Amino acid sequence: MNIRCAQVADLMNMQHCNLLCLPENYQLKYYMYHGLSWPQLSYIAEDDKKRIVGYVLAKMEEDDDEPHGHITSLAVQREYRRLGLAQKLMNQTARAMVEVYNCRYVSLHVRVSNRAAYHLYSVVLQFKTTETEPKYYADGEDAYAMRRDLVEWAKEEGITPPHPEKFNKADRKQRRQGRQIASS
Ligand SMILES: CC(C)(COP(=O)(O)OP(=O)(O)OC[C@H]1O[C@@H](n2cnc3c(N)ncnc32)[C@H](O)[C@@H]1OP(=O)(O)O)[C@@H](O)C(=O)NCCC(=O)NCCS
Repeated sequence: MNIRCAQVADLMNMQHCNLLCLPENYQLKYYMYHGLSWPQLSYIAEDDKKRIVGYVLAKMEEDDDEPHGHITSLAVQREYRRLGLAQKLMNQTARAMVEVYNCRYVSLHVRVSNRAAYHLYSVVLQFKTTETEPKYYADGEDAYAMRRDLVEWAKEEGITPPHPEKFNKADRKQRRQGRQIASS
């Protein structure tokens, strides 16, 4: 099994994998938008015959106060689950978010009933739930909005962001607050 950055030529097969795995489906142009706008952020898992068996489709949210990464879609075909592929795909995209975009956190939505994905996100990847968004999905189901802080993780993994000053800014703020408390 090989994990690599997705190319434009992979986007149709990612769409096919998505159709097999999830009720949230997108037009090919939406995959193109991701692939062309943020070519470093989406990854695929392929088998020995170069068939795509899993993918993560990711982008940057650039309009917010703090630009951050966002997972648009993640799926692994049924026969290839519980092999650690989703975890690897998610970590590859997180690494690229830090290395290319100086990203301090990544966000996503997950159905409240999706126990497998929720477990992966909350327990394995240390995402925190920030809110529940009522009726987020087309069928009326609620979503958990989740967020993973990448600053500590990047330090542990030895990942270097392009602008370390900006990347570590909260740490500096916290240290300053710590000093103020200590001297008062
Ligand atoms: C959710 C999904 C992407 C996980 O893919 P995966 O490759 O099987 O996940 P991994 O093998 O990397 O799992 C890593 C860990 O996550 C947790 N996990 C994964 N699937 C789980 C399940 N069905 N139940 C409980 N925990 C699960 C486990 O802790 C697992 O580690 P372990 O196997 O050592 O116990 C996959 O089940 C899937 O494609 N589901 C349908 C599409 C979907 O729901 N996508 C997410 C939309 S938000």
